[in-house]
Amino acid sequence: MEYHVSDLKLCETGLLRTEWANQSMPVLNRVRERFEREKPLVGITLGACLHVTTETASLIHTLKAGGAEIRLCASNPLSTQDDVAACLVKEYEIPVFAIKGEDTTTYYQHIHSVLKGNVNITMDDGADLVATLHSQRTDLLKGVIGGTEETTTGIIRLRSMAEKGALRYPIIAVNDANTKRLFDNRYGTGQSTIDGIIRSTNRLLAGSTFVVCGYGMCGRGVAMRARGMGANVIVTEVDPIKALEAVMNGFRVMPIAEAAPIGDFFCTLTGDIRVITAEHFSSMKDGAIIANSGHFNVELDLEGLHKQATSRRVIREFVEEFLLPNGRRVYVLGEGRLINLAAAEGHPSSVMDMSFANQALAVEYLVKKGKDFEHKVYRIPEEIDLEIARLKIASMGMSIDTLTDEQQKYMRSWEMGT
Ligand SMILES: NC(=O)c1ccc[n+]([C@@H]2O[C@H](COP(=O)([O-])OP(=O)(O)OC[C@H]3O[C@@H](n4cnc5c(N)ncnc54)[C@H](O)[C@@H]3O)[C@@H](O)[C@H]2O)c1
Repeated sequence: MEYHVSDLKLCETGLLRTEWANQSMPVLNRVRERFEREKPLVGITLGACLHVTTETASLIHTLKAGGAEIRLCASNPLSTQDDVAACLVKEYEIPVFAIKGEDTTTYYQHIHSVLKGNVNITMDDGADLVATLHSQRTDLLKGVIGGTEETTTGIIRLRSMAEKGALRYPIIAVNDANTKRLFDNRYGTGQSTIDGIIRSTNRLLAGSTFVVCGYGMCGRGVAMRARGMGANVIVTEVDPIKALEAVMNGFRVMPIAEAAPIGDFFCTLTGDIRVITAEHFSSMKDGAIIANSGHFNVELDLEGLHKQATSRRVIREFVEEFLLPNGRRVYVLGEGRLINLAAAEGHPSSVMDMSFANQALAVEYLVKKGKDFEHKVYRIPEEIDLEIARLKIASMGMSIDTLTDEQQKYMRSWEMGT
């Protein structure tokens, strides 16, 4: 079997950590039990480009239980957990191509290694697999039924491909499921981003000024958790409605140019480019700490920072110091890559439980219905989304009310007034 991972001897640790994660993934476990019985994915080869974490191992295990052949590579050069990659190869016999810290050339070689398997379904996180397939391996497109996409940035890229007529098969936007974006993007990114910043710096957040760039689903999670740790949170936005929401949630809102000189910590979560520019870096306080938790590190103008820095050094793992011509030092965490995966372990398993149940059910849905779809980006069916929410609630030992017949009728009527 082909594979390229860091060290197979790490398998035992990966196996134990995956078991630990799996204990918090009851919904995905339910899906796996059914897949084991029904084998809905037999005959399907799935190419996955995901962060190689313990939760991903549980997803891969589920897809394999459903009968799929899977090939896996990383969706970010710094997000692979090498012990998990080893465990997937040795224990689950999955061809994995992922090494933490791989350079860009190896990253794309690994994507090509996944594509070599003539995949029928792509499972992407950020759309690099789909983009490579559509630009460099068009010969393989005829065998593809469809794909799924995990994150906001990927959906933006794929919608742009669809609008320009470049997309050659249907995509299910897993990110847009309510059981994904309201929980994974908000609570998952909220907690794990703070975790990554703390693990890499061991600095105190209480009493600090923490600037969150972007108040979308991820940004509001980080803002909420940073405030919970005692930081004074400033939000920067470009959307007036999101900005208003931030104000009414009690945060200060201002342009990044005004926030740059007063922040102690900065975190970008916009999906945009050059949100913090070279000019902003040079107006920051001595000792400012900058992280990104958006999908790509282009949110920070690292090139501009590198150009103006008079010296740079790695001062501790995942913390790089840049000395600026004005004598001030700024610190960039995890090379500007998503800090929750670079310096911590990504989202907690219990939120990935819902995201990856969506992934598994989206693949099953594509296998059943994909051939009838146009080359567009589709939302996950509402019944799948609601079923995941019901299962999650039940797994937490809770139940909720159901509409009575009278209530159902009333909610659909207009006749009854004051
Ligand atoms: N770290 C992770 O594990 C993780 C998890 C999920 C999503 N993501 C990524 O995080 C990013 C944000 O995702 P989201 O779901 O919150 O998206 P979103 O669309 O809900 O929010 C993005 C927000 O950023 C704002 N924005 C855009 N440009 C800006 C600028 N120049 N300055 C300030 N604000 C700006 C937008 O107005 C929007 O409100 C995406 O790249 C997504 O792929 C990361």
